This record gives sequence, C-alpha cells and structure tokens, in this order.
Amino acid sequence: MTHPHAAERATTSKALLAVLDGHRPSRRPIWMMRQAGRYLPEYRELRAQAGSFLNLCYNPELATEVTLQPLKRFDLDAAILFADILLVPQALGASLTFAEGEGPVLSTVTSDRDVAALSLDGVVERLSPIYETVRRVAAAKPSHATLIGFCGAPWTVASYMIEGRGSSRQNARLAAIAGEPWFARLIDILVEASVGYLVAQLKAGAEAVQIFDSWAGDLPAHEFRRWSLEPIRKIIEGIRAEIPGARVIGFPRAAGTNVADFAASAGANAVGVDSSMSVEAIRRDVIPYCAVQGNLDPLQLLAGGERLDRAVDELVTGLNPARHIVNLGHGILPQTPIDNVIRFIERVRQHDGA
Ligand code: CP3
Repeated sequence: MTHPHAAERATTSKALLAVLDGHRPSRRPIWMMRQAGRYLPEYRELRAQAGSFLNLCYNPELATEVTLQPLKRFDLDAAILFADILLVPQALGASLTFAEGEGPVLSTVTSDRDVAALSLDGVVERLSPIYETVRRVAAAKPSHATLIGFCGAPWTVASYMIEGRGSSRQNARLAAIAGEPWFARLIDILVEASVGYLVAQLKAGAEAVQIFDSWAGDLPAHEFRRWSLEPIRKIIEGIRAEIPGARVIGFPRAAGTNVADFAASAGANAVGVDSSMSVEAIRRDVIPYCAVQGNLDPLQLLAGGERLDRAVDELVTGLNPARHIVNLGHGILPQTPIDNVIRFIERVRQHDGA
C-alpha cells in the first residue's frame, strides 16, 4: 500500500513539506516555536476566556482558534497544534496544574511503585480532544500552511515527571546517570505513549510532527545517546511502522556536539537546533544528514532593529534553501514586540528568489 502522503511527495507546493522531503521549496518555510502564545493580545484574550491554560488545551474550538491566530497575522508556512508536552503524563495518570506565573506542577515519579501506577491503557483515547483540534485546524487552515503536531521527548517529559516542576533536573539526571531500572521503564512507557499519540495526530490530519527534547543538553554524551537519541529513534521507527514515510522533526535542544550523532542516526527528516550553533557547525553536523530547523535567538527577535536584519541575513544566506526551515532556537518570548516578528518574516522573504 502506498502511504497517505505519496501523491503529494513529488509535487507538494507546501514549502515546509518540500524541505522535509528533501526538495527545493517554492520559498523559505518559516514558523516560530511557541508562535501561538502570550506575545499576542488575541491569545491572552482567549486564554482569559478559557479560564486556564489546560482548559484552553482541551477545548477543540478555542484551541483551533489559538492555533490559527499567528497565521492570521503573519505570513507563516506552518501551524503548530496548540497543546502541551505535559498532557501525555497527565493522560498516563500524573496530576498536572499550571500555577499562575510559576509554570507546570506535577505529581512526582521517583520509584518502581510510582512508575507501576502509570497506565498506558486508554492513554491515546484520553487525549482525543487534541485529535479533534487537529481535525478542525486541518480543515480550516490556509492551504499553503503545513499542520505540525508534536509531543515532548521521553527524556524531557520524564524530567518534569521526576522533578514535579521545571526548575531543576538534578534528580532526573541522577536517575539517568545511575541507570535506575524504574527510570528505564518510565522512558519505555513514554516511548510507547508517544508513538500512539503522534500516530493519532497524523491520522487526524497533522502533516508532520515535532518531538521536543528541550533538556537534551543536560545529558553527557553517552547518556544523551541512551536517553535522548535512542528513545526518539524508537518513536520515529514506531510511527513509521504504522505510517510509512511519516515526516518527523527532532529537536534535541542545546545538545551541542551531540547534534551530529542525532542528525546521523535518529531518522528525523529535520533537526531543530538552538541558537548556540553557528551556520558553519550546522553545515558540518546536520546538513550532510537531513534538513535543519532554526535557529535565530529569541532575544535577537525581541531586540529587533538592524541587528535582527543582519542575523537573519547571516542565517539565511549561509544555508541551502532546500535544507532549511527558518525558525528560532527556542520559543518566542512573551515580551516580543509584534512589529519585530513582522520585520523578521519580511527580512527572510527578501531573500526568496534572490
Ligand atoms: O505555539 C506553540 O508552539 C504550540 C503550543 C506549545 C505550548 N507548549 C504552549 C504553551 C508547545 C509546542 C509547547 C511545548 C512545551 N511545553 C515544551 C517544549 C518546548 C520548550 O519550550 O522547551 C515544554 C518544556 C513545555 C512545558 C511547559 N508549558 C512549560 C515549562 C510552561 C510554563 C512556561 C511558560 O512558557 O509559560 C508551559 C506553558 C505553556 N505552554 C504556555 C503555552 C502557550 C503558556 C501558558 C499560559 O498561557 O500561561
């Protein structure tokens, strides 16, 4: 059987899909991590209306609207599903709240018993409001835009589950480095849940998925391979066993010299890189293996002005358009002026066809 994207592959006019498929795009694809968020007044308004961030995530009507908000304002090539990486632990049975001004708070997992209390049974079904959002966005988005689904990588999600919050990763790092059996089991559970969750998003209409490993940079090289790269490689393999040719972006943030290993062996169509990576390092460590996504510093975008233009010029002229998805090195910051976003996108567009 041919896979669902087969017909589109050779002929896609969607810039982002072209790059993921290894083709030269009609223009440079651009999107921004956290593009739906607090820097937009219309987001803050819907967020207030929903009452809480989690209510917004689980309300397909409002989540669809939020997903599409940045595309109404800006000339972007992708919509990223509005949800959160911590919905998966919640569906596994962890308690989750978002304390105002403090970020996520979860029940902690630090033993065999805590891991045994998590339930893979029905985990994919419990996340069904998210697939409803995907279906609605797929139907409503502009045709040139690609819909990206996502999940958190096992290491990053496990670190939130172990610590109960995002402030430190000491205990999670210790469990990984000590090779605790309950930690290995937790990672396996997250691999399995993530495969089911991403397959369901792809079946609902996501055209690519991104796996966020925000804390990949916390692991020494050997542990990185075991707890960041290997679980992500397994997720990608598991997705493609069900959906051959599924397109995946891996984001091993702050992984430094481990990025080359990741690009060569995870099996992703593109690798997201953080802002510390130079254009030369990207050309050396990523481009031989797959496309790259990134990596303007979110603070450069916040600062704006001519230095923003120079940074965009350097990034864009340094990378082959057939291999580059323009993005930030991490999520857009809530204080970012909207005019700077417009300036950023216009500056990239000036290079199209040049
Ligand atoms: O626009 C998009 O990118 C899509 C939606 C999205 C959100 N979170 C919405 C969100 C995505 C892809 C994420 C990923 C995510 N969530 C990551 C990985 C990427 C990264 O930033 O490193 C992580 C680590 C999380 C966990 C998380 N969610 C934290 C630590 C926080 C609190 C910090 C913060 O930025 O507020 C969140 C909350 C969150 N996720 C918000 C949004 C829009 C802000 C919630 C609010 O409205 O108050």
